[in-house]
Formats: sequence, structure tokens, C-alpha cells
Amino acid sequence: MKIKKAVIPVAGKGTRFLPATKQIPKEMIPIIDKPMIHYAVQEAVDSGIEQIIFVTSSGKTSIEDYFDRNMELEGFLEKNGKENYRSLIENIGKMTEVLTVRQKEQLGLGHAILCAKELIGDETFAVILGDDLVIDSNPVTKQLIECSQRNDNGSVIGVMEVPPSDTNKYGIVDGQYVEENKTLKMDRMVEKPEPKDAPTNLATPGRYILSPKIFKILEEIPKGVGGEYQLTDAINILAKEDKVFAHIFEGDRFDTGSIKGYLEATVEFALRREEYSDVMKDILKRKVKEHGL
Ligand code: UTP
Repeated sequence: MKIKKAVIPVAGKGTRFLPATKQIPKEMIPIIDKPMIHYAVQEAVDSGIEQIIFVTSSGKTSIEDYFDRNMELEGFLEKNGKENYRSLIENIGKMTEVLTVRQKEQLGLGHAILCAKELIGDETFAVILGDDLVIDSNPVTKQLIECSQRNDNGSVIGVMEVPPSDTNKYGIVDGQYVEENKTLKMDRMVEKPEPKDAPTNLATPGRYILSPKIFKILEEIPKGVGGEYQLTDAINILAKEDKVFAHIFEGDRFDTGSIKGYLEATVEFALRREEYSDVMKDILKRKVKEHGL
């Protein structure tokens, strides 16, 4: 089954990035020269997704504008002989089809996904959290789509191994392996267990392939942890009714929703960009010396 649609929820308040997020959506904060959300959308496009559904809130229109054409800017760049920039800007405007739906109250990730119900219809779809970036030559959403296709078109939760002492920072999955050291048939997900209570060390950053059956469950679940409608609660119910897998994806993941993850991603992305790699290495060497690290 081809998976054509991805939901990217961007309605959160981004409090960890205040005061920047007083005026700018967190997703528009750049890593080097592209806003965070660009990397998430690029991952979707490289995974064969044809339509992106942003779940937005007030003050987030700059995200839609970023993926639209800007004829005035393109004209200006053309007139001034800046062809490289002109084609860069044109290509972003043509990257993919973008639809938006509003989440009027921020009632949690589960509620944000439910807001996309009408636009998704009866199709299996991807969910990408734009503040979890993963770098790999094979885009992580593509890895999960391929896993779903190998496993009866089931739902798939992207998971990564974390140090056992870190299980209390994540949702942790439990299940039995169906593909050696790669994919489990998921039994349940436990929210932030202490290391001694954790069934595995497989954590769930924000990548999912979900059956549309999730919507009915999301409509019926009560509020969970933090008084929010939790996607985790709905996935736990889905796992009892339907096939849900957990797939250990390949790639380096950065939690760019936190300042620490954002700083690390900036350094790593610069080191991986041909034109900035040497510059970043020089800066790092100099700073290590200057600060006696
Ligand atoms: P976070 O928990 O990171 O929340 O949400 P946040 O508001 O973005 O950031 P902080 O914690 O206040 O700093 C995870 C993802 O779910 C989306 C967010 O936009 C983010 O991409 N989300 C969360 C919604 O779209 N709606 C919600 O009600 C909650």
C-alpha cells in the first residue's frame, strides 16, 4: 500500500524556546540556513509522501508561507542575477502539496492528530514530529513505510535504543521480535518508566505510520497524563485491536525541541555540510583551546 499523506503537528507552544517563540514558531527557527520544519518536510518528500498536513495554531502562518511560492522574491533575485538563490526559493515553493488544519486548543498530541481526520480520510498515514530530526541516507519515514509494507501494512512506531538509565524520559515499547533485532510486534507502550520497570530500552521519538483506525480511538479516549489527549494512550488501544509494530530505525536523532538537542544538531549539521564542515571544525578547535576544555 502506498502511503501518500503525512501529518506534521506544529500547534505546540514551544515554551522551551521562549522568548524566541513569543513571535516565531519554534519550527521556523533555523538550523544553519533552513528552518527546522524544512528538514522534516524534506524527509517526508524523500520518503515518497505527496501531501503534507500541518496541524497549526494561531501565529503559525509563516510555516505555510515558507512552503508557498514567493514571486516577488523570485523576481527580485532574478533581476539581480542571483540564479542560485532564485532556484532554491522556487524549489521550496514547489516541494510538495501543503494543507493545513487548525487545532484551536492545544489539548495534546493525540488531539492534534485527530484534527487531521477529515483530511486523511480512510488511508494509512505517516506522522512526523518536526522537532525530532533524524539524519540517515535512507529517510526514517521511508524505513517505517517499508517496514509496514513488509508486515501486512500494519501500523509502525519508529523506535531507537537508549541507555537503560534514560528510559524515564521516553515512551518505551514492549513486544516480540518478528524481524531479528529490527522489528517487534508491539504489545504495549509504557510512558516514561523508571529503568527498573522498563520492559526494554526501545524509545519512541516522533515517527509513526498509523492506520486510520486510530481516529475512532482518539475520539473516545479520556484525557491522560498532564490533562492532555495522549497519542500513546490511543496507540496502546490500537495495539490490542490491530497489528502494530515497533521498528528500530537507522540514523542519528536530535531532539531539536530542546535547547541541548538544537545546539548539537547545529554543530552536527554544519559538520555534514561540505561548505561549512571546515569552518565548524576550526571553530570547535579554537573554542576547545580558548575555554581550556
Ligand atoms: P512538545 O511536547 O514538544 O510541545 O510537542 P511544544 O509545545 O512543541 O514545546 P514545549 O514543550 O512547550 O517546549 C511535541 C509536538 O507535538 C505538537 C508540537 O507542535 C510538537 O511538534 N503538539 C503538541 C501539537 O501540535 N498540539 C498539542 O496540543 C501539543
